Amino acid sequence: MKAAILIESLTGNTWKAGELIAANLQQENWSITGISSMKDPNHASIQDADTVIVGTWVHGLFVVGQAPWAIDRLRHLPAMAGKQAVAFCTYALNPGKSLDVMTRELETRGAEVVGGLALQRGHLAEHAEEFAIRLVDSVPAR
Ligand SMILES: Cc1cc2nc3c(=O)[nH]c(=O)nc-3n(C[C@H](O)[C@H](O)[C@H](O)COP(=O)(O)O)c2cc1C
Repeated sequence: MKAAILIESLTGNTWKAGELIAANLQQENWSITGISSMKDPNHASIQDADTVIVGTWVHGLFVVGQAPWAIDRLRHLPAMAGKQAVAFCTYALNPGKSLDVMTRELETRGAEVVGGLALQRGHLAEHAEEFAIRLVDSVPAR
């Protein structure tokens, strides 16, 4: 399988999570067509991929009002008809419904959303591994 990874990161956690997810997927023989920022997405990497992984961070008042940052950028990603998509977010205390919001936007872009996971910023390595395992398990081998 071929995955493109698109990331929005302010202080580096989400970018690091994306790199960890990429490394875990490569260990499962997936290829990564590119890791790029949502601000300046690598369109060729999206076109080449079967699966588009989109990650951002959670902002809000920590216990209320949580939402995925950069939802507008998600809205401006290219159309993804025929592709699978998976969302992830990194957070400190509580991700709220951030994944649901991301899922809706990805569906609007035409993708088939096959899952999502919130990664706690203090446990990025374990949670990135879990994300990759779930993703590999959810996709039938080709
Ligand atoms: C302005 C601001 C608001 C935040 N609000 C929340 C929040 O409501 N809930 C939460 O769990 N984490 C919150 N966080 C923590 C970030 O989501 C977390 O540190 C994330 O991993 C940052 O990702 P990044 O390093 O890729 O920017 C907030 C961080 C900032 C800077």
